[in-house]
Amino acid sequence: MTADLARHFLLDPAIAFLNHGSYGACPRPVMEVYRHWQEALERQPVAFMEPSHLAARFAEVRRALGAELGAAPDDLVWVTNATAGLNIVARSLDLRPGDEILTTDHEYAALTRTWAFVASRTGAVIRRVCVPLPLDGNSFTDTLRAALTERTRVLFLSHVTSATALVFPLEAIVAEARARGIVTVIDGAHAPGHIALDLAALGADYYVGNCHKWLMAPKGAAFLHAKAAAQRVLVPPVISHGWTELRENPGPFGGTAFQDAFQFQGTRDPAAWLAVPAALRFRADHGWPEVAARCHILAWEIAGRVAGATGLRPLASPETSAPQMIAIRLPECDTAALHLALRARGVEIPCYRWRDICLARLSVQGYTCLDDGDRLVAALHAEIAG
Ligand SMILES: Cc1ncc(COP(=O)(O)O)c(C=O)c1O
Repeated sequence: MTADLARHFLLDPAIAFLNHGSYGACPRPVMEVYRHWQEALERQPVAFMEPSHLAARFAEVRRALGAELGAAPDDLVWVTNATAGLNIVARSLDLRPGDEILTTDHEYAALTRTWAFVASRTGAVIRRVCVPLPLDGNSFTDTLRAALTERTRVLFLSHVTSATALVFPLEAIVAEARARGIVTVIDGAHAPGHIALDLAALGADYYVGNCHKWLMAPKGAAFLHAKAAAQRVLVPPVISHGWTELRENPGPFGGTAFQDAFQFQGTRDPAAWLAVPAALRFRADHGWPEVAARCHILAWEIAGRVAGATGLRPLASPETSAPQMIAIRLPECDTAALHLALRARGVEIPCYRWRDICLARLSVQGYTCLDDGDRLVAALHAEIAG
């Protein structure tokens, strides 16, 4: 399908790389812009780091990204990754003993630890509901609604789940939680560039997303989106020149207090963040909606071939799975050993255990071709069915 697009990526061509989901992959033209910003910083660091210069560059990124995400540029700030952004939110909230944090059993393991840390320090209680499978919009909302109590203070949900590669239908439960005054925190690590986003319409208090995964920006580019009324409580992880005691507007560098506090945190290399518009341009230049639609079809073609050759079937339907990621059920096995065995056969794909189910997660991006899928089929056949 995409030998043409594959040449833009630095991925080792000897490997059938079917794990875009974990870390993304950044195309060469975007890497060039990334290096351009790194070199501009080295050439004249003093002028580059001047707040007036950086504030203008950051504003350009927020404008471009805001248009992609359906977000007001002023409500976006740069963080280095989704974990960092969600840590800022979780650790800033004023939680008290007995307050409840409602979440699901599909959340990313690192963030489950973050909330456990917060709960252990505040006395808050985590309530984890089991989301019924197969995923269905009504039962998803009903299950979460039934778990809301008088003490629920936070609703924490993924938009696209990591282990199960599902798209959670968030709209109804986010609206309900907001109506009850519950703080809504969304882990959108896999969402930007993967599913259509309209953050203003979704209306979550906090939404954190990675730009390095499906938007294909360099690693180190992620955003924290906070509604205006929710910005005030956030505590930056680093208090530096940009912070103001009273959270007054404008901040010390002429942005909002939120922007200045998060944008100016000592000497940081902002090159990855400044390359986000280049990633958006790369996608536009290559007609990405069409590429993504082809990837979706290819992903299900590969899943069909896997099922045909090995009997291993997807966990979810094309309607409920992430458009470019499919979790495939494996038989009971040592998933770590299987991952390494597949890698030894030239196929990179994550294999892991979720609940009591063994899974492999197939990712298809613009550089993936059917031959990669056939290599997966052959490797799985040899390791499992063979
Ligand atoms: C759902 C989800 N949340 C959060 C993360 C963490 O992203 P990062 O490592 O960029 O912080 C991931 C990573 O894959 C993820 O899948």
